[in-house]
Amino acid sequence: MTNLRVRELIKSRVSLAPMAGITDYVLRSLVREYSKTCLITTEMISSEALTQVKDTNIVERADNHSPISYQLSGHKPDMIASCAKYLEKYADMIDINMGCPVNKVVKGTDGCALMRNPVLAQRIVRTVKHNINIPLSVKFRLGYTYDELNYVEYGQKMQEAGVDFITIHARTRSQMYGGKADWKKIAELKRNVDIPVFANGDVVSPMAAAECLEQSNADGVAVGRGALGEPSLLHRIEEYINKGNYILPPTLEEKIETLKRHLRKEVEFRGEDAGVKFCRKFYPYYVNNFTGASKLRGELVLINDLNKIFEKLDKILKHEDINSLQYGD
Ligand SMILES: Cc1cc2nc3c(=O)[nH]c(=O)nc-3n(C[C@H](O)[C@H](O)[C@H](O)COP(=O)(O)O)c2cc1C
Repeated sequence: MTNLRVRELIKSRVSLAPMAGITDYVLRSLVREYSKTCLITTEMISSEALTQVKDTNIVERADNHSPISYQLSGHKPDMIASCAKYLEKYADMIDINMGCPVNKVVKGTDGCALMRNPVLAQRIVRTVKHNINIPLSVKFRLGYTYDELNYVEYGQKMQEAGVDFITIHARTRSQMYGGKADWKKIAELKRNVDIPVFANGDVVSPMAAAECLEQSNADGVAVGRGALGEPSLLHRIEEYINKGNYILPPTLEEKIETLKRHLRKEVEFRGEDAGVKFCRKFYPYYVNNFTGASKLRGELVLINDLNKIFEKLDKILKHEDINSLQYGD
């Protein structure tokens, strides 16, 4: 039964990977404007923080965000389970973070540190599973270091404990985000578990997604950084891998229009000052690939007034030969 529900949630074969400070309500809404069917995931939600404060905008969602998975981090089985229970009213699926490499997180035995403690990880999974009536997934890496590549055995243990779905980032914790994701290794996990597996890491284009699926034999792909500056990427990937339909990447003009929508929505969501400041991290992904882009970004980050930012962005559209600026996959 749960198996069928998971298959329904992941049937588009593409998911938005969780990214703290990135995949907020607004980015999820933008992704959904293009892809009606991909599984979208929230940012990592700390179970400790959610236990203290329930009234937080991190859990907000829109009706059309389904299918949506809520990711929790932590290491205390009962605490994660009660947060998962609380999130059931928002979520179609709960995901547990077992891959975050950040020092602050792994020091507290959360995130990727759980890969060194499979007994605790299994306890977390069993306790959460017992408390919720929606599917449960985990996201982990190849291992903590290259000498500790335990992802196959770890995946089997997660399945045995009751996990319904796995996303695997094909890097170790030591690699952080450097080097190249090793998609071929995922095929070994696929051979050894029966639950669906999505491959993650460096899926930045429709072609990369097809190549990743070929090498990993995974059931789908999870897209992280590729969605930065291009929320339409997940739709483009779905069209390509499911229908063989190649949609061109957005032109500069389209990217600037998307940035304007992103800004407008963040300002609605957070207020003008916080919304504009929040959006600054996205400028390098939208405003690029033309002469003078870096100087312009330097100017944009100094502006707090939304209308003034729009005036500057509109100038890009008027002064550049935008048709020659499209860039390929
Ligand atoms: C800024 C940033 C924040 C991230 N936050 C999370 C997170 O909250 N939870 C998680 O499981 N992974 C997180 N990740 C990892 C991504 O989900 C993904 O596994 C990783 O970026 C590799 O995929 P990509 O090459 O498609 O980006 C984060 C990555 C980035 C770059």
